[in-house]
Amino acid sequence: MKTYLVTGGAGFIGSNFVLYMLKKYNDVKIINLDKLTYAGNLENLKDVQENPNHIFVQGDICDKELVTGLFEKYDIDYVVNFAAESHVDRSIKEPEIFANTNVLGTVNLLNCAKNAWERENGWKEGVRYHQVSTDEVYGSLGETGYFMETTPLDPHSPYSSSKAGADFMVKAYFDTYNMPVTITRCSNNYGPYHFPEKLIPLLINNCLNHKDLPVYGDGLNIRDWLYVEDHCKAIDMVVRDGRVGEVYNVGGHNERTNIQIVKTVVAYVHDNVDASVTEELIKYVEDRKGHDRRYGIAPDKIKEELGWYPETTFEVGIVKTIQWYLDNRQWMEHVTSGEYQNYYDKMYN
Ligand code: NAD
Ligand code: TYD
Repeated sequence: MKTYLVTGGAGFIGSNFVLYMLKKYNDVKIINLDKLTYAGNLENLKDVQENPNHIFVQGDICDKELVTGLFEKYDIDYVVNFAAESHVDRSIKEPEIFANTNVLGTVNLLNCAKNAWERENGWKEGVRYHQVSTDEVYGSLGETGYFMETTPLDPHSPYSSSKAGADFMVKAYFDTYNMPVTITRCSNNYGPYHFPEKLIPLLINNCLNHKDLPVYGDGLNIRDWLYVEDHCKAIDMVVRDGRVGEVYNVGGHNERTNIQIVKTVVAYVHDNVDASVTEELIKYVEDRKGHDRRYGIAPDKIKEELGWYPETTFEVGIVKTIQWYLDNRQWMEHVTSGEYQNYYDKMYN
């Protein structure tokens, strides 16, 4: 039995990871620590609510006493840190919370893990701290080239800068204490349970409600889209078999301009759901401050070392995603109405 402390496991990627792991393995126990901010939603976890290998704890990764207590109570083998403030637009308005959760929260987790795992002559056997990071720490690309693991960090937004700060602290724990750590830096994820402040679920929700589709600037910024399940698989592989002290980039080989994404969603909804949804809903709006132009990853290292590659093409993944939102309209209604905030009280008290 391997015990994971997964943080942020009620958010978008974290909940997909918890569901993926508990479906794949019978010998995995997950302690899921999540503060349940606006982005955390226990409804994402209803399929594992009765699973004895899933233990949910509501709390903050910055809380030293709480995290220390979890290490004392459970024999934790792996930490996988998803918990973060994750939205660039919010970070532009409120940078402090990004520094608190993303940097100080990571330092607290590293420190509590170190206290629990460090031995006189090294480290407890088989333990690992894994940091879920982002390609945004590398900054912005021009028309050509890709982010490599060796690309110098050059973050621009308060969000990406806080994630870069966290990555440097993880590296410091490896360089200074030889702590067994790994980092993955992934591109933009999409899929089920994605909070509708991010581009793809926002577009789907707005299309279904005949609302404007806001496109920042000229709509030609490029993101490399990664289906969330492919990302979960990559993290599982890196935590188990990645080399200690290493960074692995995880990308989808699915670069698209934002306007291509918008038109793809509109076309699918128009053809399959509601013919009255057309490109007339597209509305060009003021650009994001400091808007990174292009992100792109060549995931060669993870492919060569661990055999991972993005299995889901964008054409397949986007249809699966839109279908999921169509099949789960109630989830979207709860998330956008705020009703989900009461879900915890209803389900767990
Ligand atoms: P999300 O915003 O959907 O979920 C974040 C989760 O963390 C929420 O459940 C929230 O309640 C929890 N949380 C926030 N602050 C906390 C705190 N102080 N203590 C405990 N829990 C806290 O984010 P996501 O999109 O699932 O991203 C997960 C991770 O992946 C983040 O670290 C993010 O930087 C990284 N990432 C995301 C993407 C993407 O496309 N979504 C891309 C690259 C990297
Ligand atoms: P987002 O989903 O916020 O992810 P990130 O900023 O981390 O890449 O945005 C993806 C891209 O879509 C980004 O270039 C900003 C753009 N965007 C819009 O054009 N309109 C929107 O309403 C949103 C939320 C994003």
